Amino acid sequence: MAPITQGAKDHWSAEAYATSASFVPKLAGKLLQYLNPKPTDKILDIGCGDGKFTENFIPAIESVLGIDSSKSMIESANKDYGSPKASFRLVDCRYLEKVTSIVNGSWDKVISNAALHWILRDETTRMSTLRAIYGSLKPGGTYVFEMGGHGNVAEVKTALIYALVQHGIPIEKAKETSPWFFPSDTWMRSALEEVGFQVERIELEYRPTKLTTDAKGGLEGWVRLMGAQFLEALPEEKRDAVVRQVCDVLEDVVTRGEDGSQWLGYVRLRGIAKKI
Ligand SMILES: C[S@@+](CC[C@H](N)C(=O)[O-])C[C@H]1O[C@@H](n2cnc3c(N)ncnc32)[C@H](O)[C@@H]1O
Repeated sequence: MAPITQGAKDHWSAEAYATSASFVPKLAGKLLQYLNPKPTDKILDIGCGDGKFTENFIPAIESVLGIDSSKSMIESANKDYGSPKASFRLVDCRYLEKVTSIVNGSWDKVISNAALHWILRDETTRMSTLRAIYGSLKPGGTYVFEMGGHGNVAEVKTALIYALVQHGIPIEKAKETSPWFFPSDTWMRSALEEVGFQVERIELEYRPTKLTTDAKGGLEGWVRLMGAQFLEALPEEKRDAVVRQVCDVLEDVVTRGEDGSQWLGYVRLRGIAKKI
């Protein structure tokens, strides 16, 4: 079946993700508790990435389909975790409503970790994606999610926008370049209710997160991978200087004096919603 990706550029690399953000799939303990996987569950994992997060619950369920818009991530997930009970498919979830083989009211549970703030960035498809998630579930089905919430990684976002402004990009354009949508719990509750969900729980948690210490990871690796779209607003020859500038500006803000470890101000928005 043809992938639904609308020809978008792949900003992700499974290799860079493992080097600079390996903590993401590991820090989802609460979300997995909320999923409460059962042996009969058929689960849809939205923005599944390289499958490392999905792998946490594969043994406990009947089957899972992971969907993601990154070719690199989907190839890696199929190679490492593909099996008769786990498959992974290229889908741009901004257009999930078009994939009638998935949005068919057949899933017991839908889960999404650390992906929705990318997927919902596009204002024109925001509500249709949430509606498609609702439509994919069985009546009585459960949607559990964790994503960046209001104020997430505010220090890096500010530094990146300001660096673009310093390099001649107008402030409005620099802000528009951000690939993230970090809503408040209030916004999310009302959006979920608007598409028909009954919201059982919604919470915003400040969760400082330790960066990797890998030579190619750390703050610089994180900025290059997660901030790729900001950097693309600049000519290629200016990008390395901007990464260095952003890391210099942030060094004091993110580094802990006692051991030199580096931490970002992650804010997680987590919830459980039911299709009634
Ligand atoms: C931070 S990773 C999280 C991956 C995985 N859920 C985990 O916990 O490790 C974010 C993922 O969202 C995916 N993503 C971003 N925009 C997307 C879209 N429009 N449709 C589907 N996936 C998308 C990226 O390709 C990436 O794999």
